[in-house]
Amino acid sequence: MGERCWYVTTPIYYPSADLHIGHAYTTVAADALSRYHRLRGQDVLFVTGTDEHGQKIERSAAERGVSASLFVDGIVGRIRDELWPTLGISHDRFIRTTDPNHVRVVQAIFERLKDQGDIYFGTYEGWYCLPDESFWPDSKVRDATCPECGRPVERVQQPSYFFRLSRYQDRLRQHLVDHPDFVQPSSRLNEMVNFVEQGLEDLSVSRAGVGWGIGVPGDPAHTIYVWFDALISYLTAAGYLTAPQEFQAAWPPDVQLMGKEIVRFHAVTWPILLMALDLPLPARVFGHGWLLIGDTKIGKSLGNVIDPIQLVQKYGVDPVRYFLLREVPFGADGTYTEEALVRRTNVDLANDLGNLLHRTIAMVRRFNDGFVPPFRPGIAEPGLERVADEVRRDVAECLEAVELNRAVDAVGRLVRAANKFIEDRQPWALYREPGAREQLDNVLYSLLESLRVVSVLLSPFLLETPGRIRRQLGLRPEVATWDEAKWGQLPVGHHLEEGTPLFPRLEALGRQATASAAEPAAAPSPAAPATPSTITIEEFGRLDLRVARVEAAERVAGTDRLVKLTLSLGDSTRQVVSGIAQHYQAESLVGRSVVVVANLAPTKLRGIVSEGMVLAASEGGQLALVGPLDPIAPGARVK
Ligand code: MSP
Repeated sequence: MGERCWYVTTPIYYPSADLHIGHAYTTVAADALSRYHRLRGQDVLFVTGTDEHGQKIERSAAERGVSASLFVDGIVGRIRDELWPTLGISHDRFIRTTDPNHVRVVQAIFERLKDQGDIYFGTYEGWYCLPDESFWPDSKVRDATCPECGRPVERVQQPSYFFRLSRYQDRLRQHLVDHPDFVQPSSRLNEMVNFVEQGLEDLSVSRAGVGWGIGVPGDPAHTIYVWFDALISYLTAAGYLTAPQEFQAAWPPDVQLMGKEIVRFHAVTWPILLMALDLPLPARVFGHGWLLIGDTKIGKSLGNVIDPIQLVQKYGVDPVRYFLLREVPFGADGTYTEEALVRRTNVDLANDLGNLLHRTIAMVRRFNDGFVPPFRPGIAEPGLERVADEVRRDVAECLEAVELNRAVDAVGRLVRAANKFIEDRQPWALYREPGAREQLDNVLYSLLESLRVVSVLLSPFLLETPGRIRRQLGLRPEVATWDEAKWGQLPVGHHLEEGTPLFPRLEALGRQATASAAEPAAAPSPAAPATPSTITIEEFGRLDLRVARVEAAERVAGTDRLVKLTLSLGDSTRQVVSGIAQHYQAESLVGRSVVVVANLAPTKLRGIVSEGMVLAASEGGQLALVGPLDPIAPGARVK
């Protein structure tokens, strides 16, 4: 390991049951950050692992009639050897709190803190939340329920060792105030400052009667409190007390990621532990929001878990990673639905990105015999280069700020700009225009180069897609450095083969496939076969196609491509959101007759209900709405 290394952690997860999409959320985020920092040429230490001790695991094992160690071994094996490889997690170290090495480090720290008077012996009386493994004083508990998770707490009265948090209260408060970036997002920092200002009680750091834990040195009746043991895993994994040089290079962590419910442990107990050990504090701890189903957090004990392995088997690893990284602002809560995952994939990946690649390669083949044209600097073609430069800087800035969804969305901006560039520049028209050859070359080159840049910018987030784009551009699949995202590196003159679709269009498997109705672009999916397979007249008859007159049309604010249409079907009106704004001025549509699929399941686009889909034909980037050739009353059936 070199001079300084970029160190990121996830929480270490309880192996009390198989992990779910919520745990994958944190881990994929840490993975994307790690991949980015590696591309920047930094040494990276990315640590994840399992938190195996404590009463919760002890009970779960007992309920199944197996020893705790056998119980955790099975679950940990599935996490380490199946779940994380399935999601392409590139951690450098997987720490288990049952590793003998870790046990020694925890005991050594416990002894040192006891020797220096930071740990003392007393009696604990208060409450314990078993699912959260957290102590709560009487002052915080109402109706015997946990103030954090709302579940019942147990009364505990026992002799106990205490960690003198109170001694460090003022120092911690000062640190929080002096380092506003230490706890992020900033709303959580304020919560923590308030919490500390209310006064810190010393923390019980041992349990009597819990056998499954690390023994208190010299006192066999007690085991060390599971959170004390768990936080120290960040030190053990970096080589504390065992590999001084590695530790020197890695410490302190640059980013520690976790869900918001455990920020308190990381913003109070953890820094105080490090202060007591005279160690520098992490640069920041970041508490992201929860993935919810409806209004409820996805959680092992809530019985609403989603298995990431099954999702990857159904949809592929990149759609799952893309959804996790893109869907929810990192820091806020967000809702998980399978339909949303499908929609994200169809709209952003299959349609925007897949179509861009497909159309670009098709045009290079059609207008330049498949050869990558040269770029001619004398001829102005500044559009995409400027966007690509901006986007590259934005992605980097967002990743430095741990704003993952914004980083991914910034890449989408370049994709959308390139699609729009096709509409604006109309390569097919340049092809026909005498004397426009050089301009056409520049347009085609700019599109190919944008796709190459996109492949680099996507490589922290997605595993397979960047390589698949690059192969189609005739490049080696791997991206080696972030500098490859700079404009102008596409070699010219090589021949491109006919492309294959990047993403098949997905349907929410095993459910009513309403997601395809949500697809705002009217262009056919890149995966649609050129000649669809035959259908019967009965199958065709299931489509309720109607002539409709556009009564009103307005662009959906904040989008490039959506138009909200009010359609008259004779005896009824309905609202349809359509992805045609790049081809038609909204106002120019009023009064025109179109054909609408009237029995498509309603869906919501940008929060607006869409009750059908208008038909359009598209070819080579052009798009034309479909309507009756002769006047006919709205509502007429098309068959
Ligand atoms: N073992 C402790 C952490 C110790 S770290 C020193 C623990 N483990 S856990 O198995 O309960 O995992 C909690 C973490 O999983 C959360 O902090 C969060 O990172 C992730 N998530 C679990 N459910 C989640 C959601 N529904 N949504 C988002 N993240 C969630 O706490």
